[in-house]
Amino acid sequence: MSLKLGLIGYPVQHSLSPWIHNRFLEKAGIDGTYSLFEIGPDSVFEQELEKLKTSGLNGFNVTVPYKKKVIACMDELDWKAEQTGAVNTVAHQNGKWIGYNTDGTGYVHGLKEKYPTIFKDTASRILIIGAGGAARGIYQALAAEGFSQIDIANRTPSSAETIAQSGFNGVQTAVMGLQEAEKALDHYRLIIQTTAVGMKPNVEEQIISLDKVSTDSVVSDIVYQPLTTSFLQDAYRRGASVHHGHTMLLYQAQYAFQLWTSEKVPIGEMEQQLKNVLEGR
Ligand code: ATR
Repeated sequence: MSLKLGLIGYPVQHSLSPWIHNRFLEKAGIDGTYSLFEIGPDSVFEQELEKLKTSGLNGFNVTVPYKKKVIACMDELDWKAEQTGAVNTVAHQNGKWIGYNTDGTGYVHGLKEKYPTIFKDTASRILIIGAGGAARGIYQALAAEGFSQIDIANRTPSSAETIAQSGFNGVQTAVMGLQEAEKALDHYRLIIQTTAVGMKPNVEEQIISLDKVSTDSVVSDIVYQPLTTSFLQDAYRRGASVHHGHTMLLYQAQYAFQLWTSEKVPIGEMEQQLKNVLEGR
């Protein structure tokens, strides 16, 4: 039987997920397809989803703007999806449609590959910038790794407060505005930018200045278009280490593929290949 996978969202035409999952299928030696299903704003989402569910799909990814909306169409939710309030992966398992969220875990797996030493000292302080769905998933995944202090800076501090109040895994969290974060950057071993600020076409935008960053810090951005954002360029200039956003894209996909197939396909040379694609080489 051929595996039928895909992605729902709007727009989805430029998604890199088919590129990634078709390679996974090939590497795992599994016969299957990964297709794009665009659900436009004029469609009735629930009806379109029902059509897909009955079309023989085995699983699918969910992207903007449906990560929350899809929850009402699930039979069950995995705890990570429940806690983040967002689903990015759906699997048809034992006759049930189960919603998962692989973003936070994917982020952490990618970070651990590149900077394993960060994970050896869970007392290291972490700063997350932004308080949307991505921030929530990353916060939860880092808390599950045992980090004890994860602070959140956001333009609207009250949104960050909601994440901090979850008290996940006993983690301590200070909430602050963006200007306050700029002044306190030298306290942090790891700084993670989780908003869309700096994404193409607004490549000149940078959420905060890294003036106070320590050269011992790792500065991470989940934006991957451009591959090296203004934020990461600033980090390079100031001598900090950097972590690029495309790794989260790859590792969240690896985990999604594992949920569908039970195969954990090694990323290996795909990371460099994806970099080349993103840089138009
Ligand atoms: P996602 O679910 O993809 O993470 P989201 O839920 O829309 O996205 O969250 C967007 C995050 O980016 C929020 O933290 C938002 O800040 P506010 O809570 O103040 O809205 C932040 N964000 C978006 N645009 C921003 C901008 N121009 N400057 C600062 N923060 C911004």
